Amino acid sequence: MPDPAKPAPLPETDEAVDTAAEPSSSPAEAEILPASHWQQIEPEQFDDNDSGYSDMLSSTASLSSTILEYRTLHGRTYHGSIGNAEAWEPNDEAHAESMDIHHHMCTLLLGGKLFLAPIADNPEALLDVGTGTGIWAIDFGDQYPNTEVIGTDLSPMQPTWVPPNVKFEIDDANMDWTWAENSFDFVHARILAGSISDWQKFYCNAFRCCKPGGWMESHEASLLWRSDLGIREESAMGQWGKVFQEAGRKTGRTFSLVDEGLQQKYMEEAGFVDIVVKDLPCPSGDWPRDPEKKELGLFARLALESDIDGYILYIWGSVMGWKPEEIKVYIAHLRREVRDRSIQPWFLRRVVYGRKPEAAP
Ligand SMILES: C[S@@+](CC[C@H](N)C(=O)[O-])C[C@H]1O[C@@H](n2cnc3c(N)ncnc32)[C@H](O)[C@@H]1O
Repeated sequence: MPDPAKPAPLPETDEAVDTAAEPSSSPAEAEILPASHWQQIEPEQFDDNDSGYSDMLSSTASLSSTILEYRTLHGRTYHGSIGNAEAWEPNDEAHAESMDIHHHMCTLLLGGKLFLAPIADNPEALLDVGTGTGIWAIDFGDQYPNTEVIGTDLSPMQPTWVPPNVKFEIDDANMDWTWAENSFDFVHARILAGSISDWQKFYCNAFRCCKPGGWMESHEASLLWRSDLGIREESAMGQWGKVFQEAGRKTGRTFSLVDEGLQQKYMEEAGFVDIVVKDLPCPSGDWPRDPEKKELGLFARLALESDIDGYILYIWGSVMGWKPEEIKVYIAHLRREVRDRSIQPWFLRRVVYGRKPEAAP
């Protein structure tokens, strides 16, 4: 398993790397440079057109009484009021576009597949938790027209024009799930790091709702950038993962699922068996020589660049307390680094799937 401190090489094959279910080293104490650091160094390219800063932090979270009245922060919209739920990503069009590009990247990473678990040929019911734009659930519904597909999210940001077997519901995955026991043949969750307050409970909920013999599949990413040439700690990319890790500690909703091996740990504790862990290195940018990896890297970078603000504003501003001008300069540095082919960055995705035993209650 790659160690964040000493990155493993990006394999030349597109095959997934099977890894033992042992966690990698726990994240080092965050050494986060002060926000003011970024204003002391000259960004080589400064994109003054970055949106979303001028009114940053000027509007406080105005929690609305209905889920359709989004709250506005940093000039972006976030989900409306559902209990104490907090999503760190915007739910507006700019971010939806980034999520859809990210979905394409994910399917390329899985060799054109939507999932890896060996589910039954004719699943009756599927749950996609934290479905986002619903694009994965819609693709699954197209592929399995006889399966009842349910996608849930805090935000009603999914399209209304969907296959007849697909429906979306507003649901907070941090609450006790309301689905009856043994409801789904397949429970799928992709990129919910930073959103879930109790992952142990999350996988127990999934286990309870999964049918005996059914599967759960969990996709997550390490937020630590890697490069076989090394990522400088004090670079914007080097700081990125540290800030996310610290933000996860502050909010109580960890971003370190992959770094701490929590998917496999908690799935096993919940009762899933036949657990398989697949580590998938994903390049970012067009630096790989291999054409397939290059395409993957281009989509990975595009997903980030298409809404870099959306990934940063809430965490850096609302959670870490940086000022708008500090964030603006940091983003300028990050943008320059992610376009720098000489860095050859990649990141680690982990897919973990497991089965609920037939004999489970
Ligand atoms: C990174 S997006 C991933 C979307 C989708 N799974 C995908 O891979 O395209 C995370 C999603 O989780 C949703 N989310 C955050 N907290 C949630 C919660 N407590 N319950 C349900 N959904 C949540 C957000 O609204 C957002 O749509």
